[in-house]
Amino acid sequence: MAVNKAWTLAGYPSGWVEESHFKLVESPPPAPTDGEVLVKNLWLSLDPYMRGRISQQKSYVKGVEIGEVMSGETAGEVVESKHPKFKPGDTVTAPAGWQLYWSGKGELLTKVNATGVPLSYFLGCLGMPGRTAYFGLKEIGAPKPGETVVVSAASGAVGMVVGQLAKAWGCRAVGIAGGKEKCDYVKSLGFDACIDYKAGNLFEDLKAACPKGVDIYFENVGGEILDTVFRLMNFKSRIIVCGLISDYNAKEPYGVKNFRAILVNRIKVQGMIVFDWLERYAEANQALLELVQAGKLKYRESVLEGIEQAPKGLVGLLKGRNFGKQLVKLA
Ligand SMILES: NC(=O)c1ccc[n+]([C@@H]2O[C@H](COP(=O)([O-])OP(=O)(O)OC[C@H]3O[C@@H](n4cnc5c(N)ncnc54)[C@H](OP(=O)(O)O)[C@@H]3O)[C@@H](O)[C@H]2O)c1
Repeated sequence: MAVNKAWTLAGYPSGWVEESHFKLVESPPPAPTDGEVLVKNLWLSLDPYMRGRISQQKSYVKGVEIGEVMSGETAGEVVESKHPKFKPGDTVTAPAGWQLYWSGKGELLTKVNATGVPLSYFLGCLGMPGRTAYFGLKEIGAPKPGETVVVSAASGAVGMVVGQLAKAWGCRAVGIAGGKEKCDYVKSLGFDACIDYKAGNLFEDLKAACPKGVDIYFENVGGEILDTVFRLMNFKSRIIVCGLISDYNAKEPYGVKNFRAILVNRIKVQGMIVFDWLERYAEANQALLELVQAGKLKYRESVLEGIEQAPKGLVGLLKGRNFGKQLVKLA
């Protein structure tokens, strides 16, 4: 008999997330009703936004309540279907949460064709993080060949794709990441430079890597890094505010000291949430798939084995312990 294992929220963190904020519960797999599909989850994606889902602060999506299954996206296989569009064996992504089995409306599933590319990629460079990089850079950054694009958390799921798209679109790509190993990897992806912000010389190092200043900054971290990049932004440059991970566990936000740069340089600063482009997902999916298949979009995963590891994975992700897209292999 199959058993469903699910992580539920046991308590709201204040500050850093700990493994004790989650509780593992077991039950039989759910039975699909009319219009529903039962999915066996094979991969679970861990993402920084999950910190926001277990915060009691108002956000752009409703949070997880105590006792509810932790939210998250999975990639898996249909095992039973009461929906005309799905059959057993189909590979899908699902808003299934941190659990081994999920049953829900077929309309919530996305069928993916995992021939030729690993299924897990649909949670990363061919999924939500890839689409975030694509639309944020293309639509808000509006890059022109020859411009300089800087991206923070450059070795991560979104950052890796941003820099490689910037190169594919004719720009100079400069990453910011924590540590030499991550920076070496980022450079191996074809970025022109990568600055280790932990080396303690961010402003000078970034200035040297961006001799013509910064035209586009793809912001993933916020805090001191954002404040430093402000000092190098060009006239009529653009900042895509995609994420502010350095603030997610902070009791007080870092704030911004160099706000004046926006005025002086007429910088466009725009926040984004990937589902602002929901109707155009197919366009990004196709463009990213073509790049992966042509070997022009490389990608790295950080994989933990077993559903039991999910809380540890989220705790580590928020502390920068992941090296590449953080996943949990469920089967
Ligand atoms: N707006 C949207 O629709 C959307 C969609 C997806 C993701 N995002 C955001 O995009 C950002 C990146 O997400 P991701 O999935 O690609 O995660 P990720 O980069 O794969 O993992 C997070 C990385 O953030 C870095 N980090 C953690 N704490 C930091 C700190 N205090 N200062 C600087 N860097 C820190 C770490 O790398 P280092 O070791 O290099 O520090 C860590 O590996 C997050 O802020 C996320 O919330 C937004």
